[in-house]
Amino acid sequence: MANDSNKFQAIISHSKEYGFIFPSSEIYDGLSAVYDYGQWGSELKKNIKDHWWKSMTQLQENIVGIDAAIFMHPMTWKASGHVDNFSDPMIDNKDSKKRYRVDHLIEARIEALENDGKKADADALQTEMDRLLKESDYAGLKKLIEDQKIKCGVSGTSNWTDVRQFNLMFSTQLGSVSEEASEIYLRPETAQGIFVNFLNVQKTGRMKIPFGIAQIGKAFRNEIVARQFIFRMREFEQMEMQFFIRPGTQKEWYEHWKQARMQWHLGLGIPAEKYRFHDHIKLAHYADAACDIEFEFPFGFKEVEGIHSRTDFDLKNHQEYSKKKMQYFDSEINQNYIPYVIETSIGLDRTVLMVLSQAYTEEDLSTPEKQDSRVVLKFPPKLAPIKLAVLPLTKRDGLPEIGREIMDTCKQHFKCFYEEKDAIGKRYRRMDAIGTPFCVTVDHQTKEDQTVTIRHRDTMAQERIPVSAIASIVNGQLI
Ligand code: GAP
Repeated sequence: MANDSNKFQAIISHSKEYGFIFPSSEIYDGLSAVYDYGQWGSELKKNIKDHWWKSMTQLQENIVGIDAAIFMHPMTWKASGHVDNFSDPMIDNKDSKKRYRVDHLIEARIEALENDGKKADADALQTEMDRLLKESDYAGLKKLIEDQKIKCGVSGTSNWTDVRQFNLMFSTQLGSVSEEASEIYLRPETAQGIFVNFLNVQKTGRMKIPFGIAQIGKAFRNEIVARQFIFRMREFEQMEMQFFIRPGTQKEWYEHWKQARMQWHLGLGIPAEKYRFHDHIKLAHYADAACDIEFEFPFGFKEVEGIHSRTDFDLKNHQEYSKKKMQYFDSEINQNYIPYVIETSIGLDRTVLMVLSQAYTEEDLSTPEKQDSRVVLKFPPKLAPIKLAVLPLTKRDGLPEIGREIMDTCKQHFKCFYEEKDAIGKRYRRMDAIGTPFCVTVDHQTKEDQTVTIRHRDTMAQERIPVSAIASIVNGQLI
């Protein structure tokens, strides 16, 4: 692999070729920044979802899950601040009519300076951009773009409009009769479904603070600059958890969740050096502290998850707009209060891309006699789309029948795949390419002693094991 940009392109091609991710409505030339998950991509995504859900709701006794609707009362988004504040500063090039997010445009310049070895200039530009963004100084941002002589990639000119804010929410009409229809939004985050259900869950579940509510679901954002495959999409999924706490304890809980979430990431078997924290300088409209967990994608360190100390901003505003009390009675201190919230918010699609990027490996297996190579996806077994492939060596001599019996037993426990066609070496390579951690081969010896060869994906080592032990050996690797 020549460089990381090639690696990223290779991952995109591989994802399509092997049934992980396709451009949406591809027969109509696709839809920008919208993707479909194929047969193996959807298994991978579901395994990540299940793993997160289990770690949040099964392994944490004080967190429960919900599944709220995508459509919410329009007042929700007024109260949450999204109608007024959920926007990005944008700038248009007057010649190409192309629109850019201001921070992306300047970040590209920072990257170019770094690549030219001008680290001090790059750092100074970063600091200046952060300052202007924090102060929402749009005239200053435009001047910075002009001073840096940043050009549009399409027209090649610096003929820029003023910097303006664009709201990222999609809106649609609820109701069929146009006079009665009202404008509603596709939710831009799942979090608000949790906030509006805070009291429902607290009361019906008799939850005591501190406790959390988790949710996995679709979110929609009209990203102006949608790029980098499934990293930035217009329709995507989030896995969010709001942890309700006593006011004044937010610092310690924020630290707790920062560490807990990093541990979850490390539990995926990804080395610590591939992660870093990035503290926010410009805080979102709801936060008093926030950081990202960044992963080193082939295109650099980028956010996968946000951890936000949201204060009582959301519940307080919902109380104000709905005129319904959002208070909790804390019997330990005999006080009523609106809880504070620590949020953990991870993008499911970004996690898929992270796991794919980490797993994708090209190996040169050449010997002096023969050129050879393989592409292998080294997924942790618990996330792999298929756990076990059952491969009879030939289509004759009763071997397929034994293979079918193994399938019937093992598919009760985990996802299996059966294949008779082609030479065994070819079949192994196909399983490597979709990340199947174990293959068992049924051969003539199986008929004699009820053993099979099990092949381990990463080492390619093979050993003989009893047929009766297959399910427990594979199961043992799925924790
Ligand atoms: N409720 C808080 C919230 O939504 P965010 O930082 O805007 O915070 C949280 O989003 C996570 O959602 C991000 O860390 C990222 O993983 C994912 N995400 C956000 N926008 C995305 C997009 N356009 N495409 C894919 N994932 C996205």
